[in-house]
Amino acid sequence: MKDLIGLKTSIGEKIESALNAQIKVEAHSSSIYLAMASWCDYQGYDFSSDFFLEQADEERAHMMKIFHYVKNRGGKAVSPEVVNVPQDFESFRSVFEQALEQEMHVTKQFNNLADLCFKEKDFVTFQFLQWFLEEQVEEEYTMRRAIELFDVIGEEGTGAWDIDKHIPKITFDRG
Ligand code: FEO
Repeated sequence: MKDLIGLKTSIGEKIESALNAQIKVEAHSSSIYLAMASWCDYQGYDFSSDFFLEQADEERAHMMKIFHYVKNRGGKAVSPEVVNVPQDFESFRSVFEQALEQEMHVTKQFNNLADLCFKEKDFVTFQFLQWFLEEQVEEEYTMRRAIELFDVIGEEGTGAWDIDKHIPKITFDRG
C-alpha cells in the first residue's frame, strides 16, 4: 500500500515552513500599515492614512495568497501570530522610511525563498513566487517616491499638508 502521507503534498518541509514564515511576514506588514494608517489619521494626514489602509489590505491579500497556495498544495498553512507592532512613529517622514525598510525586508525574504526553491528544486513554488517578486518592485518604488516628496516639497509651512495631498497620486508605470 502506498504511503498516504507521502502522497498528501509535494512541497517539502523546508519550503512549507519558509512559506508559513512568509505568511507571518505579510501579516506583520499588514498590521504595521494599519498602525501607520491610524497614526497618520490622528495627525491629520488623511490621504496618507487612506494610503496605508489600502496597503494594509494589500498585505493581507498577499498573506492569503500564500496561505491558499500552501493548503492547495496539500501543506498545512499556519494562521500567524502577530506581535511587536509599533503604534507610534517619530515623524510623518519616518513613517514612510519605516515602510520602505519593511518593503526592502520583504523583498529580501522573497529572494531567500526563491533561492531555497532552487536549492530544493521546487520550480512550481518558484513560479508562484514570481508574482510577489514583481510586486515588490512596485511596492519599493511607491515608498521611495513618497520619501522623495519630502525632499522635493519640504515640510515647512503647508508643506506637510501638500505632501499628504500628493501621496495618492503616486503611480507605478509597469512599462
Ligand atoms: Fe506583501 Fe509589501 O509585501
